This record gives sequence, structure tokens and C-alpha cells, in this order.
Amino acid sequence: MTSSTTAASQLRTLGNSDLHLTPIGFGAWAIGGAWGSVSDQDSLAALHKAVDCGVNFIDTADVYGDGRSERLVAQLKKSRKDEIVVATKAGRRLPQQTVEGYSRANLTGWINDSLRNLASDAIDLLQLHCPPPALYDHAEVFGVLDDLVREGKLRYYGVSVEKIDEAMKAIEYPNVQTVQIIFNCFRQRPAEVFFPRALQKNVGILSRVPLASGLLTGKLRRDSKFEADDHRNFNRHGEAFDVGETFSGVDYDTGLAAVEEMRALLPKGVSMTQFALRWILMFDEVTCAIPGGKRPEQVEENCAASDLPPLTPDVMAAVLRIYDQKIRRLVHGRW
Ligand SMILES: NC(=O)c1ccc[n+]([C@@H]2O[C@H](COP(=O)([O-])OP(=O)(O)OC[C@H]3O[C@@H](n4cnc5c(N)ncnc54)[C@H](OP(=O)(O)O)[C@@H]3O)[C@@H](O)[C@H]2O)c1
Repeated sequence: MTSSTTAASQLRTLGNSDLHLTPIGFGAWAIGGAWGSVSDQDSLAALHKAVDCGVNFIDTADVYGDGRSERLVAQLKKSRKDEIVVATKAGRRLPQQTVEGYSRANLTGWINDSLRNLASDAIDLLQLHCPPPALYDHAEVFGVLDDLVREGKLRYYGVSVEKIDEAMKAIEYPNVQTVQIIFNCFRQRPAEVFFPRALQKNVGILSRVPLASGLLTGKLRRDSKFEADDHRNFNRHGEAFDVGETFSGVDYDTGLAAVEEMRALLPKGVSMTQFALRWILMFDEVTCAIPGGKRPEQVEENCAASDLPPLTPDVMAAVLRIYDQKIRRLVHGRW
């Protein structure tokens, strides 16, 4: 494992905004909840390690541990002078996902709560948190977000989506700066279908679940156990939310087999985790990959991925071949 401090030359501009992000960010879901027990002490140590390694972007959400993740990010920011861009999300507090739920009153209330949790006057980037697909036919919701920008509560806004169709519709709204979407070696369709359009529109892309919930770290086994409150246990089949968020929607054993094939492609000294992250950064359209991290060692390993040399065309072709042979039929038509 090597230590890394992300160089300023690696920064990628987020869409049409004036935000410049490190290619590896920090995904702050696991430090909030739904990933088994994580102590705040470890979480803060992980966050500090990220900043020490040069990371300048954190993705959180109001519902991650009911504000716990946002509050930890606020603690980090209070004790660091570094410029840190924070994205959060709104919408998942609704008991049921309806378009009507994304009202001015609800959005304003959620955003005020996030501002309090984040101890901030303005949210750098607010993302609608996988809203119902029908929302994209309701321009008035984006009008509310425009008003919140004018009021100074939001600097920028974007969306987090499940499906490419939703992403395509979202970016027709001119002030949507970013789309957060699952993109990794096991979820390659966005590059085929969505990235070219996002590039035309100059929309930023945040690649979430970059490690397929840990599958692409190469550390998981058939008999790996997950705690009861870890979604890799309770959402294996989509019992609680979209199954695509857990192991990217890939059947566990098939995923393990594909990872074993990929292991043969690792350049010397590169871990499976770093390989999976470097693969994502091969796509210039991606502004930032946001691996989740619970411990400083994980974060350090993840950050170092952006210092690795590019993967060769042969290796990229081999990853695509593995995807085509083992994974495509499970995910390609679904998301
Ligand atoms: N709907 C949405 O908008 C949405 C949904 C999902 C995620 N996200 C965002 O995307 C971020 C990333 O996705 P994710 O957290 O779901 O999945 P991920 O990044 O694919 O996987 C994260 C998990 O992998 C393990 N891990 C990370 N680095 C590792 C390393 N170096 N070595 C070994 N294990 C490592 C950790 O869990 P263990 O140590 O427990 O194995 C970690 O919690 C989230 O944190 C969140 O910010 C957004």
C-alpha cells in the first residue's frame, strides 16, 4: 500500500460549475449506517485520512444514519482548514416516494435540516436522492431548486439516479450540474449510453458504488458474513431498496467468479481495489469516483488509485470481455 497525496493537476471540473474535484472522493454512506457497526472514532479517522491524502470531495445524504454522516462531515470540516466540497442528498425522508412529496415545503425543510447538520450556510451540491422516475416530467421541482440556489442555500444541484433513462431526462434541465450513477467494472452500460450525452451537455458524473459494495475489492468470499444491519445482508434481494445498490445488483457468486478472473489482470503491486478504481478513472467523463470507506487504511488504499498509470487497452478489453461473458446479462437491461 502506498501513501498518496492527490496532486492539484489531477483535479476534474464538475460540469459547468466552478468546483474542481479530486478524481477519488469519499462516499460517506457507511459512516452513517446500514453497513454494520462503525464507530464515530473510526469514521472520523477515515475522513481525516481522506483529507490527508488530498481528497477534496465528500458525498453524504441526510438519511445516512439520520444525519449522523452529515454531522461527522461537519466535525471534520470544523477541524480542518482544507477546501472540502460537500455534496448531500434529499428526498429519502419521504415514507413513500411520490412526486408530490418533492414539494417546496418538504425540500426546503430537508435542506434546512442538512444545513444544520453540516453546520453550513450553503450546500455545495444538493442531489435529489433517486426520486421516482415521474419526477423528471415535473419542471416545477427543478424550479424550486433554482429558487433555493437564488436564496443562497444551494450552490449547485444535481441528481442521483438508478437508471440511465432517468439520467438522460435529468440532464435536459439546464441547471442540473451532476448525475450520480452506479458505474464500475460490473456496471458498464453508463459509458455506452449515457456518457456521450453527458459530455455534450458538460454534466459532471459521480461514479457511486465503485467497488460494487466491496465485491471489487477482491476480499469477499462465498462464506463472508455481514452483520444483520448491513445492507449486504438485509438487501441482498432488494428487500429494503433497489437491489442494484447492493453488490451492484450482481448475483453474489457470479460476482466472486468474475473478480477471480479479473485478478489475473492486476499489474504488479496493484490491489484489486485500486485496479477497480483506476478502471473507472480511465473514463474522462467521470468527474469523481466516491468509494465508501470505514477505516483509514481503506481510504489510503483507495486514494492511491489515482496515482497509478493508465490501464492498457488490452487490460481494458479484458475487463469488458469478463463483463460481457459473466455480468452483462444480469444488469445491462435493468439499469
Ligand atoms: N442512492 C444513492 O445516491 C447512493 C447509493 C449508494 C451509494 N451512494 C454513495 O456512493 C458511495 C459509495 O458507494 P458504497 O459505499 O455503497 O459502495 P462501495 O464504495 O462500492 O463499497 C464501499 C465498501 O467497500 C469496503 N471497502 C472500501 N474500501 C476498501 C478497501 N480499500 N479495502 C477493502 N474494503 C474496502 C467497505 O466496506 P467493508 O469494510 O464493510 O467491506 C466500504 O464500506 C456511498 O458511500 C455513497 O456516498 C449513493
